[in-house]
Amino acid sequence: MSKGTFELISSHGDHEQVVYCHNKEVGLKAIIAIHNTTLGPALGGTRMWNYRSEEEALIDVLRLSKGMTYKASAAGLNLGGGKAVIIGDPKTQKTEGLFRAFGRFVNSLNGRYITAEDVGTTVREMEYIFMETAWVTGIPKAFGGSGDPSPYTAHGVLMGIKATVKEKFGSDSLKGVRIAVQGLGNVGFHLVEYLAKEQALITVADIDPEKVKTVTARFGCAAVSADDIAYIDCDVFAPCAMGAVINDHSIQKIKAKAVCGGANNQLAEARHGDMLRELGILYARTMSRMPAA
Ligand SMILES: NC(=O)c1ccc[n+]([C@@H]2O[C@H](COP(=O)([O-])OP(=O)(O)OC[C@H]3O[C@@H](n4cnc5c(N)ncnc54)[C@H](O)[C@@H]3O)[C@@H](O)[C@H]2O)c1
Repeated sequence: MSKGTFELISSHGDHEQVVYCHNKEVGLKAIIAIHNTTLGPALGGTRMWNYRSEEEALIDVLRLSKGMTYKASAAGLNLGGGKAVIIGDPKTQKTEGLFRAFGRFVNSLNGRYITAEDVGTTVREMEYIFMETAWVTGIPKAFGGSGDPSPYTAHGVLMGIKATVKEKFGSDSLKGVRIAVQGLGNVGFHLVEYLAKEQALITVADIDPEKVKTVTARFGCAAVSADDIAYIDCDVFAPCAMGAVINDHSIQKIKAKAVCGGANNQLAEARHGDMLRELGILYARTMSRMPAA
């Protein structure tokens, strides 16, 4: 028998609050999860994704929000962990009405949850949310916001890759270092841009062929299929797409000497981190902070 909603919630951590957001008129189906607010209001982005089921969306938001609690804490921020997911296709279903309706749900939490960009959302959607609530970050610079946070995230990943390469190979130069980048969205694109400047040997993949075409043309890097990128022979595998890419199915096939990327929740379970260590693959989790305004 499949697990009930409350059972699923309690089996993924001690979440404080899980909010289902529904608006039939605009087609909004979203879940906000607040994992922990001990250190401050729960901060975490809104992901829009074509989830195969509501259960998959719930599990994703529970895992992501829990991860944000630890990320904020490890970075020394007075923030808690939260996250939101919107069920839908970010390529075809993004509307002002949908994000404004979502913004009203964020507003109803009175600052317990602060949202931002994540997979499938951009500064434009944050602008719509900002029309309904002040509890959103990553809004356009014209409104006094930070703008797109992903270049800073990618820079944090670059620094993480440099530290990882130094630990593994003794020098933080990325010249000639073979790096496989999975996902060419906001973070992956900027990461490739930084890596190209460092003269790394870059191989990329994305499920969206247009993004692969743009990036390979612009930065002259190699490309492989999205099914293969995790398994190519390289020095660093940089996951910059979805979570749980390091799992029972993939782990034995990874040939990279280190894993360091921007994706949240790269390990399907904590034990996969131990397994990487046993395989001699250095695993680094990166974090980034926006520069002070
Ligand atoms: N945007 C940020 O500033 C930020 C901050 C911290 C963490 N992150 C994390 O970084 C990751 C990427 O976020 P983003 O903002 O770049 O999202 P995005 O939506 O801009 O990009 C994600 C990309 O991954 C691709 N993708 C999805 N599944 C894939 C697969 N199986 N193989 C290859 N490509 C695949 C998508 O087509 C898309 O191009 C996410 O895990 C996100 O939670 C983002």
